[in-house]
Amino acid sequence: MGELRMTQLIDTYGRKHRNLRVSLTDRCSLRCTYCMPHDFAAWIPNEDLLTTDELLMIIEVGVNQGIDEVRLTGGEPLLRPDIVEIVERIAGLSNAPQLTLTTNGLRLKELAQPLAKAGLSRINISLDTLSRERFKTLTYRDRFNDVIEGLAAAKSAGLSPIKVNTVLLQGINDDEAPALLDWALENDYVLRFIEQMPLDAGGIWDRATMVSADQIFKELSLKYTLTPVDGRGSSPAEEFYVNGTASTVGIIGSVTRPFCGACDRLRLTSDGQLRSCLFSITETDVRKVLRDVDLDDSAKRAEIAARFQKTVISKLPGHGINDPSFIAPPRPMSAIGG
Ligand code: 5AD
Ligand code: SF4
Repeated sequence: MGELRMTQLIDTYGRKHRNLRVSLTDRCSLRCTYCMPHDFAAWIPNEDLLTTDELLMIIEVGVNQGIDEVRLTGGEPLLRPDIVEIVERIAGLSNAPQLTLTTNGLRLKELAQPLAKAGLSRINISLDTLSRERFKTLTYRDRFNDVIEGLAAAKSAGLSPIKVNTVLLQGINDDEAPALLDWALENDYVLRFIEQMPLDAGGIWDRATMVSADQIFKELSLKYTLTPVDGRGSSPAEEFYVNGTASTVGIIGSVTRPFCGACDRLRLTSDGQLRSCLFSITETDVRKVLRDVDLDDSAKRAEIAARFQKTVISKLPGHGINDPSFIAPPRPMSAIGG
């Protein structure tokens, strides 16, 4: 290998990749209908999950190639027993990236404070309904109150702005958009609606029943004046000021309003596969490199760097959900990392 130098992660369409989404586990404490069936059992074997040392090596190599934000995801990332140590170690890297986390919030009551102290900068919490009964129906677990308490804990730990992600499903919670926005404004949470994507393990996604970005916008507009916020950058959310105030609401039209042209994200699965997109059907194996007994650490780093480049170069211009030839990825969102 030649000398190690700072290469950037630029794909063949000129997109520079700065954001790495790291799935820490595919396990989850909920069973959100749009994500996995309630009796899902195809878990990644434990021995395939990356160790914390392995994770750190990959992240460090990414950071040396221009990654400046790391988002920890799952499954449910807070199920990882050493989550606070992971945050602390990433925050302690030289050139430490911005460190963010997407969680279902169930364990935040005890973890928000330690995570903030360990160096977490921001947090996204998923919540689809304000009804405890509906929550139970949607997630197969009676844990609504834990999420609400988790949100409050995140706020008092100073993890603001706290973003709340909501997926609306027809006939289940599609009547709740205005109530959710009222609630978010009242509690100072930043609400973002995400269109349901064809990524669930159960294959329930159906374009005909998906609640679209347009529908959500129309529904909210009946009650609120929404003014577009300029300067979206690489953010998937289209944001709107609410009623002329500084408060915003986001709508993520993953399916009907793709934002692939500005995408700056790469993904690492919990079993050590790099992906250029949620919807990629190919992956680059880095776990194999890490566990190759014939390589020393510097040879591993060089090979992992090369595999980051390979992943970026293979990136397609878009997810293609709307092409007739679209095939959903073979792994569900819980295994890929949201
Ligand atoms: N479509 C859209 N969003 C999804 N999420 C999980 N599965 C899907 C899907 N099929 C969301 C979760 C969480 C984030 C990681 O992704 O609700 O907020
Ligand atoms: Fe768990 Fe998130 Fe999937 Fe819900 S969407 S089951 S919280 S991984």
